[in-house]
Amino acid sequence: MANQLWVKKPIDKLLLESTGEGNQLKRSLSSTSLVALGIGAIIGAGLFSLTGIAAAEHSGPAVTISFILAAVGCGFAGLCYAEFASMIPIAGSAYTYSYATMGEFVAWIIGWDLVLEYALGAATVSVSWSRYLLEFLNKFGIHLPAQLVCSPFEVVKLSDGTVIDNGLVNLPAIIIVCLLSLLLIRGTQGSAFLNNVLVVVKVAVVLIFIALGWSYIDPQNYVPYIPENTGKYENFGWSGIATGAAVVFFAFIGFDAVSTAAQEAKNPQKGMPIGILGSLVVCTILYVLFAHVMTGLVKYTEFANDAKPAATAFAKTGYDSLQTALIIAILAGYTSVMLVMLLGQSRVFYSMSRDGLLPKFFSDVHPKFSTPWKTNIFFMGFVSIFAGLVPVSDLGHMVSIGTLFAFCLVCVGVWMLRVKRPDLERSFRTPLVPFVPIMGIVVCLYLMYSLPVESWYRLAIWLAIGLAVYFGYGKKHSKLGKE
Ligand code: ALA
Repeated sequence: MANQLWVKKPIDKLLLESTGEGNQLKRSLSSTSLVALGIGAIIGAGLFSLTGIAAAEHSGPAVTISFILAAVGCGFAGLCYAEFASMIPIAGSAYTYSYATMGEFVAWIIGWDLVLEYALGAATVSVSWSRYLLEFLNKFGIHLPAQLVCSPFEVVKLSDGTVIDNGLVNLPAIIIVCLLSLLLIRGTQGSAFLNNVLVVVKVAVVLIFIALGWSYIDPQNYVPYIPENTGKYENFGWSGIATGAAVVFFAFIGFDAVSTAAQEAKNPQKGMPIGILGSLVVCTILYVLFAHVMTGLVKYTEFANDAKPAATAFAKTGYDSLQTALIIAILAGYTSVMLVMLLGQSRVFYSMSRDGLLPKFFSDVHPKFSTPWKTNIFFMGFVSIFAGLVPVSDLGHMVSIGTLFAFCLVCVGVWMLRVKRPDLERSFRTPLVPFVPIMGIVVCLYLMYSLPVESWYRLAIWLAIGLAVYFGYGKKHSKLGKE
């Protein structure tokens, strides 16, 4: 029975499933489209919310260095993702790759862990979305009841000086999660055009912020550039920069979405690395410049408890009418990130249920819309609980630690397979194996180590629940196990 833990889904079977009738995807994505796809999934709350929090609590103005460190970790992991994606060019995620290559148990752990990336990622973005919505409504003199806009565990500062510290639930965050989940149930066909528009809007917002903000930078705000460590490991100094990197790592999540499109790339060998690394490079440059301007406009200490720091910083420029447009664009841009995450989550649970590891409920398809609607409804509730009750920084930490853990497993997997299955055809090969996977593991582990210790407890609890579910249900019902 112990052997079942390592049972692998035959790659031929997977490929057959993917090429079966009605399942063939067209190889139509050029390298440029892949870069656009990545940017669409990447730019979101990490940049517009967590940059301020990382600066205020961990890195100070040196949050720019934090961004570079996080990008390096993502670059190594991204190269490993690309090899997996080209070897098993099936629209899927790390869960599918690992089931075929490292066996059922590792696949289960990755699939379970991905809930932290996708479901809680969507919750994080929704909380940030709610902050920008409040700011927007505030501009028009509309004030929602304080108890209904913020969780009980946080203090929220609005630009007009209002402080909310008696919240009960973050209702706007719950509402956006529900609306987008319902939209997903109806299906998202034809949304590629909308995604392209949103990519352009998001990049434009970042460029406008940088260009207009640059001349209002007050050099005094950069002193000290690396604030002295306060004695607590995560706060400031070099260790603070590493913690800041683990926090803003969230801003890069989504580039793995490029790898899931391997099956649709015109030329995966060339397109995958360009798509993954290209979107990472573009985003890193934009992020560093954005963070530089943001911390130049406002003293980093002022970003404490501020989940809408871009609005706070932009207010210093005096372009008041533009600020409203900026907030609208951010609100719109967030929707594409939340959709990608909610969709990714439902796909992972759908696949796990199809494999028998989760109850059939999760792979029931809607008779009219052909979407896994029960999974969508389940996660609508699950994500809403976190969106309504948990502060953005705690959510962000959980997403970062969960995703970093998944990245480590992907790096291990690529290296292991080069040794064990050198025969498998790979249309893209990660360069310099084992150096690149080892560096990916080292940097990701270092970033995990830099996160506040509570994040580790939460990850451990989540994985322990996962093990209980696997041994209590998944292992017994696994289709492959029965075969
Ligand atoms: N990278 C995405 C964001 O920052 C998840 O919102």
